[in-house]
Amino acid sequence: MLNEIKEMRPETIAIMVTGNVDVPNVVSALRGGAHDFISKPLKLEELRVTLRNASEVRDLRREVTVARSERKRAFSFSNIIGESTRLKKAIEVATRVAESDVLSILLQGETGTGKDLFARAIHAASERSDAPYLAINCAALPATLIESELFGYEKGAFTDAKAKKEGLFEQAQGGTIFLDEIGEMEHPLQAKLLRVLEELKFRRVGGLKDIPLDVRIIAASNRDLKKCGESGEFRLDLFYRLSVIQVDIPPLRERGEDVLLLAEHYIQRANARRSNRKLKGLSPEVERIFLNYSWAGNVRELRNVIERASILEDGEYVTTAHLPADMLSSHDPAGNVGGLVLPPGGIPLSSAELELAKQAMQRTGGNLTQAAKLLDITRDQLRYKLKKAGAYQGAN
Ligand SMILES: Nc1ncnc2c1ncn2[C@@H]1O[C@H](COP(=O)(O)OP(=O)(O)OP(=O)(O)O)[C@@H](O)[C@H]1O
Ligand SMILES: [Mg+2]
Repeated sequence: MLNEIKEMRPETIAIMVTGNVDVPNVVSALRGGAHDFISKPLKLEELRVTLRNASEVRDLRREVTVARSERKRAFSFSNIIGESTRLKKAIEVATRVAESDVLSILLQGETGTGKDLFARAIHAASERSDAPYLAINCAALPATLIESELFGYEKGAFTDAKAKKEGLFEQAQGGTIFLDEIGEMEHPLQAKLLRVLEELKFRRVGGLKDIPLDVRIIAASNRDLKKCGESGEFRLDLFYRLSVIQVDIPPLRERGEDVLLLAEHYIQRANARRSNRKLKGLSPEVERIFLNYSWAGNVRELRNVIERASILEDGEYVTTAHLPADMLSSHDPAGNVGGLVLPPGGIPLSSAELELAKQAMQRTGGNLTQAAKLLDITRDQLRYKLKKAGAYQGAN
C-alpha cells in the first residue's frame, strides 16, 4: 500500500502504524518512503506529536518547491530582453545546450553583455536546476588557492590543512559551476582543468582517490579566447575542449533594436521606484544618441545611464541634460559630422547618402523605423531612398 501511495502521490507523507516494529520491517518501509512509525497500541499524545511533525515537514517541502520554482522563473531565459536576430540566436543555442547533456559550455561576450545572466539561465533550464549553481571568478584567486578551492584537499595536504575539505567541484556535484573570466586562469591550473574535463574525474589536493565528476562547467570570457590561445596566453587545447559548444553574446552596439527595448525596460524599473513623477521614455534626440553610441560597457552601462537620468530628470522624458558628458561628446547636436571624410577624388552626394542609409540599416539589424531614427528622417523617406537605389526588398 505504501508503495502504491508513493507512486500515485509522491508528496504524500505516510506514517505507518504497526504492531510489528522489527528492524527489517522498519528498514523496508523507510526505504519505501515512510515518514515515521507509530507502534500499537495507538497513544493519542504520540499520534498528535507525530502528525504535527509530519505537517511541519510537509509545509517545509512546499516552501522549498515554491522557492525553487520562483528561483527558476527569476533566472529563466524569458528574463533576457532582446528582439534582435543575433541575441535571439544566442538564446536559442543556449536553450538547446541547457537541455542537452553537454558538460562544458563557453560563453563569450564583452563586459556587460549578460554572460552571468546566460549562465544562470542555462542552469535554471537544465535538468540540474535543483542541484547547486556555484560561481567562481578565476581572476580573483591565485592558482594555488583556486586549486584547493576547486578540488578540495585532504587533511595534511599542506601545513594549514587541519581537516579534509570538499572543493567546489564536490559541492556542486549534480549541478553547475560557472568559471567566470576563465581567460585569467593561470596556466598550471588550465592544465589540471583540461585533464579533469577529459577524464571526467578529479582528486582532492593530496588525495589518492578519484572522484567521478558530474558537474557542468560553464566558462565565460570577455576576451577572444581563441586569439588568446594563438598568442599563447591561454591553452589552445583547453580552448578547444571548452568551446565544443560556444555561445557568442553580441555586443549591444551591434543590436540597435535592443537598445531601445532595454532602455524601456530600465525606465519601467526606475518608474516602479519613483512614487511621484513617472518617466514616459526617451526624448527623440536621446533615442538617436542611444542608437549611435558604442556602449563599451554594454547593457550594464545602459542600465547605469538610465538609473542616473531617472534620478536627475524632472521632466517626463530622458533628455540630453542628464546624460554623461562622454556620451554627448561623441554626438553633435548641430548635426555636424566629424568622422566623415570626403574621398580624395570626391563622391556623388547621393552615393554618400545611400552608403549611410545602408549602414544605418545594418546597425539596426534591418529595422527601418530605427534606422530612420538614426538618420533623422521618416521611415517612409528612408524606405523610398533605399527602394530607389534597389537596396530594399521589403514589402513596405
Ligand atoms: N539581454 C538582457 N536583458 C536584461 N538584462 C540584461 C541583459 N543583458 C545584460 N543584462 C543586465 O546587465 C547587467 C550586466 O550583465 P552580466 O553581469 O550578466 O554581464 P557579464 O557579461 O557577466 O559582464 P562581465 O564580463 O563584466 O562580468 C546585469 O544587471 C544584467 O542583468
Ligand atoms: Mg559577469
